[in-house]
Amino acid sequence: MHNTVVHNDGTTLPADHIPRHASYPEYASHQDAVQDFLSDSNRFWLSQSQRIQWYQAPQEGVSQDENGFYRWFADGELNTCYLALDYQIEQGRGAQVAMYYDSPVTGQKTSYTYSELRDEVARFAGALRAKGAEKGDRVVIYMPMVPEAAIAMLACARIGAIHSVVFGGFAANELAVRIDDAEPKLILSASCGIEVAKVIPYKPLLDAAIEQAEHKPQACIILQRPQVQADMVAGRDFDWLELAGSAEPVDPVPLKATDPLYILYTSGTTGKPKGVVRDNGGHAVAMHYSMDVVYGMKPGQVYWAASDVGWVVGHSYIVYAPLIYGCTTIFYEGKPVKTPDAGAFWRVVQEYGVNALFTAPTAFRAIKKEDPEARLLKEYDVSSLQKLFLAGERLDPPTYQWLKDQTGLPVLDHWWQTETGWAIACNPVGIESLETKPGSATKPTPGFLVEILDVDGKPCPANEQGAVAVKLPLPPGCLPTIWRNPERFKAGYLSSYEGYYVSGDGGYFDEDGYLFIMGRTDDVINVAGHRLSTGEMEEIVAAHPAVAECAVFAVNDELKGQRPIGLVVLKDGYNIAQDTLQSELISSVRQQIGAIACFNEAIIVNRLPKTRSGKILRKTLRQIANGEEYQVPSTIDDPAILQEISEVL
Ligand code: COA
Ligand code: AMP
Repeated sequence: MHNTVVHNDGTTLPADHIPRHASYPEYASHQDAVQDFLSDSNRFWLSQSQRIQWYQAPQEGVSQDENGFYRWFADGELNTCYLALDYQIEQGRGAQVAMYYDSPVTGQKTSYTYSELRDEVARFAGALRAKGAEKGDRVVIYMPMVPEAAIAMLACARIGAIHSVVFGGFAANELAVRIDDAEPKLILSASCGIEVAKVIPYKPLLDAAIEQAEHKPQACIILQRPQVQADMVAGRDFDWLELAGSAEPVDPVPLKATDPLYILYTSGTTGKPKGVVRDNGGHAVAMHYSMDVVYGMKPGQVYWAASDVGWVVGHSYIVYAPLIYGCTTIFYEGKPVKTPDAGAFWRVVQEYGVNALFTAPTAFRAIKKEDPEARLLKEYDVSSLQKLFLAGERLDPPTYQWLKDQTGLPVLDHWWQTETGWAIACNPVGIESLETKPGSATKPTPGFLVEILDVDGKPCPANEQGAVAVKLPLPPGCLPTIWRNPERFKAGYLSSYEGYYVSGDGGYFDEDGYLFIMGRTDDVINVAGHRLSTGEMEEIVAAHPAVAECAVFAVNDELKGQRPIGLVVLKDGYNIAQDTLQSELISSVRQQIGAIACFNEAIIVNRLPKTRSGKILRKTLRQIANGEEYQVPSTIDDPAILQEISEVL
């Protein structure tokens, strides 16, 4: 589809044209790249930094800040929006489509060339400035999957404002918590989102969140969608299109590599989400590097990450990486199924000539469930598609096999987290396609030094499970800290093993150095690729007046990977029916976290299994609920409880 790129003056250049400044190393094999990285990681990343256009190229690789945290390219200056748009236009991509918007839920389809997108972004950046946003100010973005969400993110990047996108499926309370932590000057939102056929008004949620939050924004900018007209608060709320229409375009401002580009909140083990900070310089280098090494893309190709801008996948691979790399990206406002059917993904691939598709395994499990023989796949011409990428949760071998059998394409699992922003382990197809092994994310990406550590911090031998850790410094693009909470960064990630970042995942290397990620070692769970905290759900359940104590843990789910379930012990003398309590608890979790938590089951029990020191034995509960073999822990207070629990689960 995009074999050539048309200049604005009508001349063309090859679609995979490499920008003039690029002089980064090419590797003959994965092993070569790993060797080069291991021999001198600082030099390795400094040479990779030449992938992007800097206002001031860094002379320095890694350094340490006032907290002793590692920072990349501290003396470099750049602007991420310039790299994603203006620079691409300078390179001749002005008339290439930068972004397709495809919305089966509204029937709308549009596209933006790089020039059109730059013009929209430059004007909206002017609108943000007119409303008082400047470099370093925070802007919260609470939007559905409409192109304006990307325009808003890029406009913030253009003026150096720090965006914080909050997933549209989160309830008002979650939004309020993030508003109080980020303290935004502006909040950008839309009148509604659309979930299949259900219209969800966003403005009442936003109003409730602002009401609940201690911090109040200076202004809100609201995109009125035709499906719902939002009520505006006079003097505080402004109409998006009116503001953007009358704004003056602004140029990108030079920023330090270490200036934050965004904050993205992610679930930890407590009710308070963690504000993962992403800087400008390391992020831009990592995005470019990963489009090449991890995804094997060529500039000019069409890359589709079917996710949501509210998640890290949306930040990195719907918005920033494809544009920084000169690809065409797709904004898809729909689901893998029901919009209108399980052929939706294949239809998008055909329509836009998608070359690589990235989504969460749960999306393909949903497609497989509705179309097990992949009949709908055969109705579309998907010959443009070269690779399928999966991440966000463990790619279970049956889904891997089904995808391979049905599509005949390379099915590439890769492992990463909000914290890293890009893949820690992958099949580095841009350098060399390694053999894949079902259940493995293949090998550490060159640039990450991954080790499996036992409880004493010693490396585990092959095939032995331990904590998956990354040797410091983390590569460019990974979080340098937690927003305004360096202590939490230290305590949560750096203090378990001196000199290492702990991922929170358990796993092992096999004898060939393949990495297998087996799941979280903490209270974080993964429901349909959405990262959630059982600790937070427990706090909500425990707040019910009937509840003396409770345990929320994940059980396996055929479609969503995991789903939460709660066991509840009533306060003495409290009389409430199981069904009544369950529906009240479900409703509290929906109201405080959102429907995406999928908390649909709470069971009253007489007591919970505990150690003699009073710790709830969650792992054993999980094993019982999943019908797995388990050993009665030697520390258990009363083994008879396990039998009682098995009977109710
Ligand atoms: N705004 C408001 N509500 C939302 C929402 C959003 N952006 N996203 C989900 N919800 C709601 C849903 O409407 C649903 O509500 P309900 O319980 O009232 O019906 C609930 O949250 C659960 O949604 P979901 O987990 O999406 O379940 P589902 O059964 O509707 O769909 C899948 C199942 C597998 C199709 C869907 O989860 C999916 O597309 N998963 C892919 C996830 C993904 O891309 N993750 C990104 C990580 S890479
Ligand atoms: P998030 O920060 O929402 O992207 O979630 C990150 C978590 O999802 C990781 O810590 C893992 O537990 C899980 N995860 C992501 N990708 C994979 C994968 N490819 N294999 C196994 N687990 C994964």
